[in-house]
Amino acid sequence: MTILAFETSCDETSAAVVRAGQVLSNVVSSQVRLHAEYGGVVPELAAREHLKNLVPVAEAALAEAGVKPEELDAVAATQGPGLPTALLVGLKAAQAMAFALDRPFIGVNHHEAHLYSPWISGRPAVADFRTFVPHVSLIVSGGHTLLVKVEGELRHRVLGGTIDDAAGECFDKTGKLMGLPYPAGPVIDRLAAEGNPAAYDFPRPLMHDPNDDFSFSGLKTSVRYFLRDHPAVLASASGVRDLCASVQAAIVEVLVRKTVRAAKREGVSCVTASGGVTCNRALRRELETACRRNRLTLRLADPGLCTDNAGMIGILAERKLQSGIPGADLDTEIKPGWGLEALAETR
Ligand code: KG4
Ligand code: ZN
Repeated sequence: MTILAFETSCDETSAAVVRAGQVLSNVVSSQVRLHAEYGGVVPELAAREHLKNLVPVAEAALAEAGVKPEELDAVAATQGPGLPTALLVGLKAAQAMAFALDRPFIGVNHHEAHLYSPWISGRPAVADFRTFVPHVSLIVSGGHTLLVKVEGELRHRVLGGTIDDAAGECFDKTGKLMGLPYPAGPVIDRLAAEGNPAAYDFPRPLMHDPNDDFSFSGLKTSVRYFLRDHPAVLASASGVRDLCASVQAAIVEVLVRKTVRAAKREGVSCVTASGGVTCNRALRRELETACRRNRLTLRLADPGLCTDNAGMIGILAERKLQSGIPGADLDTEIKPGWGLEALAETR
């Protein structure tokens, strides 16, 4: 089965060609520089950029895969959650193409696709992922922070999520307070590598709460108060590095502890992680250490597949078709607030 997939839920315009569990091409055009001057994603600008870029990105994905449109068996797109105007571009393009080619259209849940991204490359591959269910998956990005128990093929249960800011948002907002460019996550990662994570003590919100929820807005506020009381920290390069390392340590410790604790409580033997923040080197390292200590198998998405991409959308679309889930109507609408909980109830 050969599938063309689109992802336009936020600020990445992406198209991928997937065949038999393999991603043949995965072209991503990031808008991050465009939004940087506004300090965050501007929905209207994102939609216009998707409109401008989607056709060239799709052509590049088909050319790189060596696949002609008439060879496609289905066309897929992210249906939600995401920014409404951004989602519309990819979804309507996929439906138009499915109509023109007389092929099924597959609408995909963005979070569910993230659950598959750790299995896209390496061994065992997507096809063997059943060996590793049940497992606990951490989805952590600028828009979401979720702990999910994957119970089987297309079967999962949300264990917890953030009650305010996402972890990536916390990286970006605390970085903004420090005067770092948007998105600050990768910059903090780089600066923290040479800083002292024990230099300043920041709160670890909800870390010892028995639930699987997260909260990061209090951490951001405590950084704001810290900078109000210690403005000189920003005057030295070593002060900034120590601050980055200390903030990062707080975020990472909460994520790692709660993920491992959930895995142990749920009695699973495998943990996975995906989403932009999974690029963070300290998070990857600490998850590796904690999983090794607790005899858990860890499967991290490749850094290039952590951030939003159409490869994961195509992989999930193929799994859905193979599982007997039929294509959706060509007038199916976007679902901007489509949570995993709602999806689970329909299965
Ligand atoms: O998955 P993604 O591309 O988009 C969504 O938000 O859905 O994730 C982007 C987020 C941003 O908040 C960015 O700062 C964060 O991921 N991020 C990182 C790193 N790379 C990206 N955060 C910490 N360390 C990184 N290396
Ligand atoms: Zn995402």
